[in-house]
Amino acid sequence: PRKIWLTRHGESQFNTLGKIGGNSVLSPRGEMYAQLLPDILASRIPRTGDGKPYPVAVWTSTLQRTIITASGLHYPKVQWKALDEIQAGTCDGLTYEQVKEQMPHEYELRKQDKLRYRYPSGESYMDVIQRLEPVVTEVEREKECVCIVSHQAVLRALYGYFMNQPLDSVPSIDIPLHTVMELTPKADGTMAETRFIVD
Ligand code: F6P
Repeated sequence: PRKIWLTRHGESQFNTLGKIGGNSVLSPRGEMYAQLLPDILASRIPRTGDGKPYPVAVWTSTLQRTIITASGLHYPKVQWKALDEIQAGTCDGLTYEQVKEQMPHEYELRKQDKLRYRYPSGESYMDVIQRLEPVVTEVEREKECVCIVSHQAVLRALYGYFMNQPLDSVPSIDIPLHTVMELTPKADGTMAETRFIVD
C-alpha cells in the first residue's frame, strides 16, 4: 500500500527562540534535518504490484521553513496555503512567556479551551481543522504516496483525523521536530503508524 508521510519543517530560528508563528528560516540543526530527509524518504518508498516504485508527491505550506525543508526532495511539489501554521494574530512573534505577561486574559482563555480558542485576529484549532478539509479530501483521492511537510498545529489536526483521535485531544498531540510519521492505510480503513526520529 501507499504511504502518507507527515513531518514538521526542520527546526526554525523562531523555534530556537521559543517564538510563535513568523516566517523564519531554519537553524543549523533544522538544515541538517532537511539534508537527511531525502534519503529517509527514498528508503521508505514502497513498490507497486508491477515492482516499480510508487510515485511520490510532496506538499508543503507557503512558509519558507517548509519549502526549505523540502528543497532536497526531488518529486513533484505543491504549496498549499491550507498547510500554513495556525495564525496567531496579535500573538505572532511573541514567546509564550510574553503572551502570559502582556495578554494574561488571552493566555488563560487559551489554556481553558485550546481547541476552540481563537487568537485575536488569528485562528483557532477548529478553524485550522476546517481549512484542512480540501487537503484531507485530496490525500484520500490521491493514489500516490504523499509527503506533507507542514507545522505543529496543522499536523496535529491531520494526524488526529487520520488516526481517529478525539477532537479535544488534537491540540495536545505530540508532534516532535525531526520526526517522520509514516502512515500506512490498512484494509479496515484505519492507519498503521511508524515513526522515524532523526536526531
Ligand atoms: O512553536 C512552533 C509553532 O508551530 C508555532 O508557530 C505555533 O503557534 C505553535 O507551534 C502551535 O502549537 P501550540 O498550539 O501548542 O501553541
